[in-house]
Amino acid sequence: MKRRKAGPPSASSIRKAGDEALSTLLAEALVMEGSIDRATHMFHAYPARMHPDAAALVIDACPGPVHDPFCGGGTVLVESRLAGRESSGTDLSPIALLVSHARTADKSLTTPMRSAARKIAAKAQLRIDVEVPEGLDRWYQPHVAQELGRIRDEIPEYDEAVQPLLKALFSSIIVKASFRKSDTINRRETHHRAPGTTAILFHKKARELGRALDAMAEGPQPLIQAGDARFDPPQKDRGLVLTSPPYPGVYDYLPMQQLRTAWMSIDMGSGLPAEVGSRRSFRALGRKDALQQWRKDTHRWIGTQADALAPGGRMVIVVGDGLVGDRMVDALSPTVESMRAAGLNIVARASADRPDHARGAIRIEHMVMAERNGA
Ligand SMILES: C[S@@+](CC[C@H](N)C(=O)[O-])C[C@H]1O[C@@H](n2cnc3c(N)ncnc32)[C@H](O)[C@@H]1O
Repeated sequence: MKRRKAGPPSASSIRKAGDEALSTLLAEALVMEGSIDRATHMFHAYPARMHPDAAALVIDACPGPVHDPFCGGGTVLVESRLAGRESSGTDLSPIALLVSHARTADKSLTTPMRSAARKIAAKAQLRIDVEVPEGLDRWYQPHVAQELGRIRDEIPEYDEAVQPLLKALFSSIIVKASFRKSDTINRRETHHRAPGTTAILFHKKARELGRALDAMAEGPQPLIQAGDARFDPPQKDRGLVLTSPPYPGVYDYLPMQQLRTAWMSIDMGSGLPAEVGSRRSFRALGRKDALQQWRKDTHRWIGTQADALAPGGRMVIVVGDGLVGDRMVDALSPTVESMRAAGLNIVARASADRPDHARGAIRIEHMVMAERNGA
């Protein structure tokens, strides 16, 4: 496999096709890099998130209500709200929904959230023994697990409207306080956290989220719901479906949240078989059958979401070639074929070589824009 040093793609490695202005816009969006400290984007880690500036560019170029059927941590929803646009999102993962909701929450909740978080953090420092879910002790120093347990146990004491925000704050510190290397790397790396600092971190996250939400321009509240992108369409007449679906065979989005689901007693059970393109499906079924399944799922979700587009509405998909073992999987052709089969016209495309930092390799990422007839 071709290898090169990590870094942004060079201009020569970007390929464009279709409408000149739109493919230039997609190319610009595709090469966006770096973290963006705007609105609530820094609040909670989420794997493989879309770049906020990429989302903003596309939203600006495509009018009408926006939908993201694989909304993940809610980047598209935050940017839609900042742009003053009506939006909606679905995801299979309860953690994705929790994060998306918190990142776009109503400002009226920030004061009660901060006040509850301050009280919870104070109580979490008291020496009251709490139960830690089985299997979690190897991921935390005992006093850290105790502080987390006390935070979790206090959340139900507060107003129901504030509880989802408190849970999102809790969720945002679960991996950081653990020995897990990161959200996407399930390696154990021990470190020391001083007693009391986990509770302080919880309170700090509340102030951070509160500040970010307070500073966000008033905008329409996104509609965020649990859903399977293959079968659950948004409301009709969307102007833009903008999304980044799972790349084939790269991540296990649902099991990846195991620390959070264990702490919050969330059962991912029925969602697991519905996850599109999971890495485990490639291991269980083998490359050929898993790819066939991914293509079938791609066909289904694109068909379902295309039906909800208004005449002249656009679908923009960010998809990267998958990686199974050491071999690339072409994600572009099945995506384009499914868009055509759903009755959409491909209007522009851009592709770029992107470094895969985890594997020290290059993968190709694509942004494809298609349009429904009849503007
Ligand atoms: C690449 S991530 C989306 C990241 C998102 N664009 C962001 O900026 O945070 C893909 C998402 O697809 C979700 N997913 C996988 N299969 C799904 C399905 N059948 N229906 C809905 N969501 C699904 C995963 O839970 C994950 O959150």
